[in-house]
Amino acid sequence: MERVNDMNTLSNIIYIFGFDSTMLKTHFDNMKAQYSSYLSFLVLDKSGKSVFSTPNVFYDPALFHSVDESGNSWLGVCVKDVFMFTIRQAQIPVLMICAPILNGSEERYGRLCALVDFRLVGAMLRKSNIEVTGEVYLVDKKGMFLSASRFGAKALTDHISMTAIAARKQGLYETTDYRGERVLQAYHKVDAFPWYVMADQDMAEILNRINALEREAVVYGVLTAMIVFVLAFCISTIIVNILKAKYRYEKELEFQVIQKEKLASLGLLTSGLAHELNTPLANALLYTQIAKEELDESETETEIIQERLSTVVDEVRQGSKIIRNLLDFSRHTQSDAQTTDVNKTLTKLMGIAGPHCTSKKIKVKKELEKGMPDIKADASTLQAILTNLVSNAIEAMPDGGMLRLKTRYVPVLKIIKTEIADSGTGIHKDELIKIFNPFFTTKKQGEGTGLGLFVSHQMARKLGGDIKVISSTRENSINSGTVFTLELPTE
Ligand SMILES: Nc1ncnc2c1ncn2[C@@H]1O[C@H](COP(=O)(O)OP(=O)(O)OP(=O)(O)O)[C@@H](O)[C@H]1O
Ligand SMILES: [Mg+2]
Repeated sequence: MERVNDMNTLSNIIYIFGFDSTMLKTHFDNMKAQYSSYLSFLVLDKSGKSVFSTPNVFYDPALFHSVDESGNSWLGVCVKDVFMFTIRQAQIPVLMICAPILNGSEERYGRLCALVDFRLVGAMLRKSNIEVTGEVYLVDKKGMFLSASRFGAKALTDHISMTAIAARKQGLYETTDYRGERVLQAYHKVDAFPWYVMADQDMAEILNRINALEREAVVYGVLTAMIVFVLAFCISTIIVNILKAKYRYEKELEFQVIQKEKLASLGLLTSGLAHELNTPLANALLYTQIAKEELDESETETEIIQERLSTVVDEVRQGSKIIRNLLDFSRHTQSDAQTTDVNKTLTKLMGIAGPHCTSKKIKVKKELEKGMPDIKADASTLQAILTNLVSNAIEAMPDGGMLRLKTRYVPVLKIIKTEIADSGTGIHKDELIKIFNPFFTTKKQGEGTGLGLFVSHQMARKLGGDIKVISSTRENSINSGTVFTLELPTE
């Protein structure tokens, strides 16, 4: 298109300045300097006579007439199809462009013709060749190569089949090329010329690319999966560490709370102990003194003295019971290695308490879960806790009732829950908050120490577990009763 414009401009200049040889030569030289592919120029007058030609030029009137007569007058300029031309014994593809020199009333005043070396177009197209088998070339509408191709097709000698070219301006299809190779071929029609730019690439290379892409996709997929896995691993490790730290912190806090509770209960215990032991001891002392005085007087009947002495025995027994309970508590030191089967311990205990229940018209119902893990505690501690809870339940049902024993493992918390439920009197709301206090008892003087639940609760806490209680009395429910739940860890 640029060359066509050059020619139009020049023909206008010629019309304005006339056929001045010096001026024409200067212009042709300038044009050639700007675009070295101009091989030669020729100016003809109205009658077809040559009025100017560049050196080493040819003049074949038939050739120029054929261009003129072919009727191709794109943009007012005639372009003859690319043809072979011999310059210095070499055959090269050339393009002839002829422009009419028109006067002001659009009449032909003369003719300007130029020969352009077409190899430059081929070289330009070859620059667009891509990868190993991609090639770009120019063909005319019959499929004749106008530029030499990358793989040896010669301009104006070889040709390709144009059957796949549709009426559309551009297209893409698979075909067999001039070498007999399967290729993917794209075409694009050149504006204002009956030429097509063709671009081919071997199917084998395209398939190789696709396979390589597939392999790359697999590698990227695996890499992505690995990255995701590593990230997930790191994140989960971080989360686990955070949870562990939180767990340690909570345990520490719990430990501190227990320590505080221990100190508080120790205070309660010592003050209670002084009071609880003082009463039976003072009573025992009093009755011993009375009995002694009565013996001295030797008037008192033996029966009365015996009664006094049996009171002394009862009081001393109560004191020793208190001391035994406390000894029990202090003796139970936990060793980490010991584990105990809760079901076995409970069954053994009921073997002893069973006949007692029968005599008291208490029915015993056991629901023991099978295959539970052992708890982390020594058998004697567990036995002491269960004994306290079971004996409290039996004592709460003086007129008979139902004692229900249930065990179950909670895998999420890794604990075993043991329920000791009775249908007894129940615990009043006001008393419920005090039952774990040392020496709290509702039993008659001399019957209970009020240490059973205190000791059991302390022992359960020491093992990392707990004792919970739910109770209802006849005041607020038709069926009264109490459920103690002992929770102990298995790990
Ligand atoms: N299953 C229960 N039903 C109703 N009340 C209960 C039950 N268990 C405990 N209690 C109440 O809690 C109080 C405290 O119980 P704890 O075992 O500590 O002492 P105690 O049983 O009174 O004395 P000891 O255990 O020395 O015989 C009891 O006196 C009773 O009032
Ligand atoms: Mg008790």
